[in-house]
Amino acid sequence: MLKIAHRGAKGYEPENTLQAFQKALDLNADGIELDVHLSADGHIIVIHDETINKMTNGKGFVNTLSLPELKSFLIAEKHEIPTLNEVFDLVNKKCFINIELKDANTLTKVVSLIDEYVSEKNWSYDHFIVSSFDWNALQEVHNFDSKIPIGVLTETNLDLALAFAETIKAKAIHPYYHLLNEENTKEIQAKGFLVLPWTVNIEEDIQKIKSLKVNGIITDFPDKI
Ligand code: G3P
Ligand code: CA
Repeated sequence: MLKIAHRGAKGYEPENTLQAFQKALDLNADGIELDVHLSADGHIIVIHDETINKMTNGKGFVNTLSLPELKSFLIAEKHEIPTLNEVFDLVNKKCFINIELKDANTLTKVVSLIDEYVSEKNWSYDHFIVSSFDWNALQEVHNFDSKIPIGVLTETNLDLALAFAETIKAKAIHPYYHLLNEENTKEIQAKGFLVLPWTVNIEEDIQKIKSLKVNGIITDFPDKI
């Protein structure tokens, strides 16, 4: 059962910070999940929302701010917003990285960065899963490089997600965990896909989802799995 640390170990450190990803490594997570947007000057920025308003002491849309501007604002008074390169270098192949595309404008740069780490830094494609609720973006990732593992995110419709996963030969389905039962979990796995539900944090839910024999769990508390 893969332990995947949601936005880093969000239960212990401010989400999507290098500290949260280091905490996930310290807790022996098998993977980390993170969210990406694009800055005004074209850097891949690791942050959940399209604005920095909730997480930092600044204000504004990520895509209207340059990297130096984004770096000048702090999360919980001390953490910088990381770039995707910085997270890759911190993780350094110690676990896999689930990159959730929150903005389709990130996809060509994410594909290029993955390809660079695979071809020049000896990473393997298995160190990555690219996921998104935006299935058009996933289709484009697949068109650019069909070797990149894809996770199809769904909050509402497993059947549609499964049909789409088949068309792009995805690696995994990432369902909202309330959609799962024993039967559909088995069906997805029988078709060759991993089942990686999110975001399971409460003990009772963790036990229930584990009993379905899913392949992994995306959670704020990887040590609870
Ligand atoms: O990747 C699963 C999960 O992260 C999706 O929800 O809002 O936490 O990005 P959210
Ligand atoms: Ca996410």
